[in-house]
Formats: sequence, structure tokens, C-alpha cells
Amino acid sequence: MHDIIQQLDEKRRLARLGGGQRRIDAQHAKGKLTARERIDLMLDPGSFEEWDMFVEHRCTDFGMESQKIPGDGVVTGYGTINGRLVFLFSQDFTVFGGSLSEPHAAKIAKIMDRAIEVGAPVIGLNDSGGARIQEGVDSLAGYAEVFERNVLASGVVPQISVIMGPCAGGAVYSPAMTDFIFMVEDTSYMFVTGPEVVKTVTHEEVTAEQLGGAITHAGKSGVADRAFRNDVEALLMLRRLIDFLPPSNKEKPPRRPTADPADRVDTSLDTLIPDNPNKPYDMKELITKVIDEGDFFEIQPEFARNIITGFARMEGSSVGVVANQPMVLAGCLDIDSSRKAARFVRFCDAFNIPLVTFVDVPGFLPGTKQEYGGIIKHGAKLLYAYTEATVPKITLITRKAYGGAYDVMSSKHLRGDVNFAWPTAEIAVMGPKGAVEIIFRQDTGDPGKIAARTEEYRQKFANPFIAGHRGFIDDVIQPRLTRKRICRSLAMLRNKEVNNPWRKHGNIPL
Ligand code: HXC
Repeated sequence: MHDIIQQLDEKRRLARLGGGQRRIDAQHAKGKLTARERIDLMLDPGSFEEWDMFVEHRCTDFGMESQKIPGDGVVTGYGTINGRLVFLFSQDFTVFGGSLSEPHAAKIAKIMDRAIEVGAPVIGLNDSGGARIQEGVDSLAGYAEVFERNVLASGVVPQISVIMGPCAGGAVYSPAMTDFIFMVEDTSYMFVTGPEVVKTVTHEEVTAEQLGGAITHAGKSGVADRAFRNDVEALLMLRRLIDFLPPSNKEKPPRRPTADPADRVDTSLDTLIPDNPNKPYDMKELITKVIDEGDFFEIQPEFARNIITGFARMEGSSVGVVANQPMVLAGCLDIDSSRKAARFVRFCDAFNIPLVTFVDVPGFLPGTKQEYGGIIKHGAKLLYAYTEATVPKITLITRKAYGGAYDVMSSKHLRGDVNFAWPTAEIAVMGPKGAVEIIFRQDTGDPGKIAARTEEYRQKFANPFIAGHRGFIDDVIQPRLTRKRICRSLAMLRNKEVNNPWRKHGNIPL
């Protein structure tokens, strides 16, 4: 009996060693942690329950029958983050480069199935050379098993991918279907075809980092939601993100006690809006002054910076914040910002997270680049996402709310529950100057007349009261009281219940 127990310990020790000390050292030399070190950092100490430690591949080609490593390149199981259950897999680059074999995929599929049944997030730590080349189509079948589960889990449990090494070819499509992608600078990359294929086909010379590194995807393509300097930072930020999320679509987001009073007054907000309507101000200042303890977890901070998206708490409960940023492109909506915000709104709606929207939007960005790029369809994504969302929706117009963009940004007309405006709000079809140039074209040769007409238009429309007369705005509020008014509205809406008409699924303009 004693011997058998000792053998088990020895088997576990060997499995924990993965591809061996030499490969572990090589992993460390690249500035990367091992699969198990990452799990230790990510989970609460001692909470990890590992499954399938002794799984081995069954491949007999290319001498593989003599190369078996227990666990087969992926560590799987469950544990807790700040006491809350999560399922996870962590690919082990020291074992066949973390490549995906059929049993490796089955291990991932197993924890995904349990996560869906139990209702808990799935976290994937990706560090893999892709399909196990020696296995051929078995490996491709394995990938498809994971893809299928990514799709079925979508909107049911949160799925988060952390890219901590290579992720290329069709392998990118599993993370692409998860809710959030974090990347690590310098050590991770994602691309459908690598630099060599790119060079052959398009004659472009590009490094792996330029083509698909963390900075590229977090800033240019928008594929990644955040880029972090190293493994440790990425994993600690992942723990922060999990704290904002409910475990599944059946539950409300977690509440955490806060020392920040719901009725906290902030007089500095009374002077946030500059006197000159064309002068920008930082919308992040408003966000951090209104939310609990200024604690804002931004999603895609470097992509489409003309719109801000992220998680915060009001009276201890998670909210999703969407806000136009006047500092970038004057806060216009364009293709990227519409896509970014639409995806965020849909995530929040799927997981019962109320939406708080801050509006200062002069309209949609004009130009051939936008029109040829399909701004019509992309802008419609945001309109669609806000309209179908049934979570509590609070909107505050701080300054401009012009044209179609006014409608899109969680207006009353798209089932906004509580719509506030500051006295500085301007709600109209367009800005006074543009409007006068169109409706008084005959006066364009007379600057005096134009100035008078512009002032008349400004007086008439550049305020929140016309919308207030019609009930499109529920109240015009003092900026200093913004936090109190939003907290009260959210509390009032806590048990909101709205159902959309039955359908198999809608047809969002993809
Ligand atoms: C089997 C693999 C492997 C793979 C790496 N290894 N990738 N084994 N299948 N796909 C093994 C290597 O043989 C090596 O074994 C160890 O992992 C580390 O690899 P190195 O090349 O030494 O590491 P590095 O220099 O860091 O380069 C990493 C790499 C490179 C860039 C990922 O290994 C590489 O290009 N691999 C092939 C990538 C690829 O083409 N994959 C298939 C993509 S298609 P030893 O024993 O020496 O430690 C695909 C389709 C998915 O994935 C389709 C889904 C539908």
C-alpha cells in the first residue's frame, strides 16, 4: 500500500515537470512563466483542483509512441479567484510546444462542459504551437470540439483568453470567440498566417510582433482587449476583471461592500464642461468621479479611443460604462468605436450588467474611408445592441447629442430607462453652424445674418429643455449630483424585467 502511494507521488512529480527542466529553463529565459506557475498566480492559494493529469496522447506516427508526457501539454481543472469558482486550462509550451492533440482538446472540452453545466467562467491561458503536427486531422477535429463549445458557452458563461505565447493559424479562432482577450507584450502573438507566408504572398516584410503582437492587437486591430507588460501583470489584471463579472447569465453580478457614499457630491463636475463648445475635456474624469472609489477597469483602452468602455461599480454593484471621449476625434462615432461599444454592450446585456452611458457626441465621422468601410452596417451594430439590451440602462448627456448619434447612444427612444441631461446639453439634429448653413443657405453671403441665425438656433436647440418638454429626458440634473442620481436610478431598476419577442435569434448587422 505504502509503495503504491509513493508511486502516485512520483507519477505526479513527473507530470508536474511537463517537458522537463531544460524546457522549463528555456521558457523562463524567454521571460515566460510555466503553465503551472501561471495557475498558481491566477488562483487563490491552494484552491486548484487538477483533472486529467495522467492523460497521454495515442499517436503512433513519427516515433510519437515513445514520447509520452503525462498531461499532454495542457493543465486543466478548476479553482477560485477571490473565493469565486472558475474553470481553466493552461497550455504547457514545454510539452510538444503546447501543441493541441486530440486528448489535449478533450481535456479542454471536459472543463468547458462542466463550466457550462455548473455556471462558472472559463479561463484559457494560451501558449501553443497550434495543431499537433504529428496527429494531422485528429488535431483539427480536436480544435473544432473546442470551437463548438466556445460558441455554445457564448452568452452563458464568461470566457476569457490570455495569450501568453504563440497563437497562430486556425488556433486563433478559439480565443476570437471568447469574450475578452488579454495579451502579453513581446512574448505573445496571434495571426492567421505568419510573417513568412505574408512575405511570400504579399511581399510585405513584417516581424511577428508587428504582425500580431500585443500592441498591434490592442491598438490597431482591436482583436485584443488589453495588453500587459508580462505574465504576472496579465494574470493579476485577469483576477481584477473576474471580480466584476457574474459567474453565468443566470446570476447577477457580484456586489462588494463600498465605503464610497451613494450620495457623494462632487462640485468639481459643475465646471467640467468648457465654455467653448468646441473645446475638448476628458470624459474619464467624469467616469472616475462618479463611480465607486474611482475604480475603473477599462476594456480596449488603446483601440477606438473616441469611445470609452469598461467596468465599474455603483453602490458596490458592477456596471458597464460606455462614454464618448471628446478628447479623441471630438467623440465622433466611427466604424471602430461602434464595433467596440456594440460588443461591450452585448456582453453586459448577456450577463445582466446594467449599462451607464455618458454622451457627448457630435455625430458620425464623415468621409470615404468610413463609408467605404461600411459605417452604415457598423454604426447599426451599436444601435442594434442598445435597442435589444434589456438590462437597466441609464444615460447622461453632458454636452452634444446630435443627429443619429443621439438616437444611438442609449436614448429614451431605444428603451433607455432613465435619461438625464446636464444643463450644458445640446440635443439637436446637428450643431448650430452646420444647421444654419443648410436651412439659411440663401443668407450665406451675409455674415451678419448668418451669425444672428446661428445664435437663434443655438438659443432654441443647444439646450436640453426641448427634449425635456417631450419627456425624452427624464430630468435635467446638477452635474455635482450625478453620482447620487445614477445610484438611485440603478437601485430603482434593480428588479427590472423586460422580455423581447420570441425569436430563434436576431440578425445583428454583422
Ligand atoms: C508538434 C510542436 C509544434 C506543433 C512546436 N512543437 N510546435 N510539436 N506540433 N505544432 C514542438 C517543437 O518540435 C519543439 O519540440 C517544441 O515544440 C518547441 O518548439 P520550438 O520550435 O523549439 O520553439 P520556438 O523556437 O519558440 O518556436 C515556436 C513556434 C514553432 C513558432 C510555435 O515551434 C513553430 O512554428 N511551430 C509550428 C507552428 C505550426 O505551424 N503549427 C501548426 C499551425 S496550423 P522539442 O522536442 O524540440 O522541444 C494550426 C491549425 C489549427 O494550428 C487549425 C484549427 C482549425
